[in-house]
Amino acid sequence: MSVHEEKKKITVPDIIQMKALGQKIAALTAYDALMARLLDESGIDLILVGDSASMVVAGYETTLPITMEEMLYHVRSVRRGVQRALVVADMPFLSYQTSLEAGIRNAGLFLKAGAEAVKVEGGEPVLELVEKLVDFGIPVMGHLGLIPQSIHKFGSYKLQGKDPAIAKKLKKEARMLEEAGVFSLVLEKIPTSLARDITESIKIPTIGIGAGPYCDGQILVSHDMLGLFDKFKPRFVRRYAELAQTMRQAFRNYIHDVRSGEFPSEGESFE
Ligand code: KIV
Repeated sequence: MSVHEEKKKITVPDIIQMKALGQKIAALTAYDALMARLLDESGIDLILVGDSASMVVAGYETTLPITMEEMLYHVRSVRRGVQRALVVADMPFLSYQTSLEAGIRNAGLFLKAGAEAVKVEGGEPVLELVEKLVDFGIPVMGHLGLIPQSIHKFGSYKLQGKDPAIAKKLKKEARMLEEAGVFSLVLEKIPTSLARDITESIKIPTIGIGAGPYCDGQILVSHDMLGLFDKFKPRFVRRYAELAQTMRQAFRNYIHDVRSGEFPSEGESFE
C-alpha cells in the first residue's frame, strides 16, 4: 500500500522512503490551525510552516523580518491542526546564522513547539549546523536555489543556476547536504534540467517549487495556489482557486446587506 493511501502518521523515514518507492510527495505551507487542519484532512504529506508567513500573513515585503517568537506561534498553531502530515518548521533569518549554539537552540525550540523537523536555507555555510542537528536527533530539510533569505544578495527573485558555474555549485552543495544528513531538499526556482540532474544524483527526495516536474515532490505556498495572496502571480504557481475574488465578493455582499437592512433576517435573530 502506498504511503498516500495509509491513514497512519507520516514520519521523516516515510518521506525518505517515498522517493525509493517512486511516490511523489505533495507539500504545502500553513501558518494557522484552520488551514493546517484543512490540508491534513485533504491528505497532504508534508506541511511547511514557512517563513513566507512574513510576507503572506504579516504583510512584509520579504521573509527577513519574521522573528523566532512569531514563527513559534505559527508552529504551535499548525501543530494543533495536524494529525497525519509531517510538520516542518522554517528557521527564520538570524535564528541559525549567528552561531551553531543559536541554531541548535532555536531548532530545539521548534521541536518543543511541535514541529517534527526544521528547514534551513543554503549549502556550504549550513553543513556543520546540519550535522550537529541531525546528531542531536533533529531532522533537517535543506533548501537550495533561490533562497529568499538571500534576496538582497540576489537583487531579485530571479531564476538561479542558469550560469554553469552556479549550477555546478548547487549540484555539489546538494550532495554535501545529503552527506551532512538532510532528509529532503527544497529546490526553488532553478531550471528543470538542473533540478532533474540533482534529483537523479542524490538518494534523498527533492521537493521543487518552480523547479519543474522531475523533482520527487512539489511544494507551493498555500495562499498562492488558492489565489488568496494575489499581489503577484509567479509563473510556477498553478492557481487551484480564486479565493481573494470570492472573499472580496462575500465582503461586498455583507456590507450591502448590513447597509440595506437585509441582514440580519428574522431567522437570524432571537425573539
Ligand atoms: O517559506 C516558505 O514558504 C518556503 C517554501 C516556499 C519552500 O520556504
